[in-house]
Amino acid sequence: AVERTLSIIKPDAVAKNVVGQIIGRFEKAGLSVIAAKMVQLSQSDAEGFYAEHSARPFFKDLVSFMTSGPVVVQVLEGEGAVLKNRELMGATNPKEAEAGTIRADFAESIDANAVHGSDSTTSAAREVAYFFAETELCPRA
Ligand code: CMP
Repeated sequence: AVERTLSIIKPDAVAKNVVGQIIGRFEKAGLSVIAAKMVQLSQSDAEGFYAEHSARPFFKDLVSFMTSGPVVVQVLEGEGAVLKNRELMGATNPKEAEAGTIRADFAESIDANAVHGSDSTTSAAREVAYFFAETELCPRA
């Protein structure tokens, strides 16, 4: 089925100037960008987005990293977009990510791991709505 997923290019990847290379991988895999913006997240933006992790020991570091510089937030659309994006990203910890994945190629650590992607269609719906109004989405004809 055609799905939508939320992708965030994190501050480490923006600082490395690899935004275009990462988006190129999505496009080569058949995903289309149907919304995008560059933003510097506030503390409350990041805390709200990652609310499900608020009890985890890494939460503080996660919020501090995600607010450390601009990010590029996008909505990707395509056949099986949620799983396809997760395959392109590789494992959360870049040290465990398969060769050729975004995290293996561009990420340094479990915090500075280059990209975020929704983990299910349910999370995707919540995450897309967190960053974009319905009128900001530009689905392909
Ligand atoms: P992300 O997909 O953005 O979702 C939550 C983030 O928390 C994750 O990527 C990692 O960057 C970060 N994180 C840090 N430590 C851990 C951990 N032990 N397990 C999962 N995520 C972690």
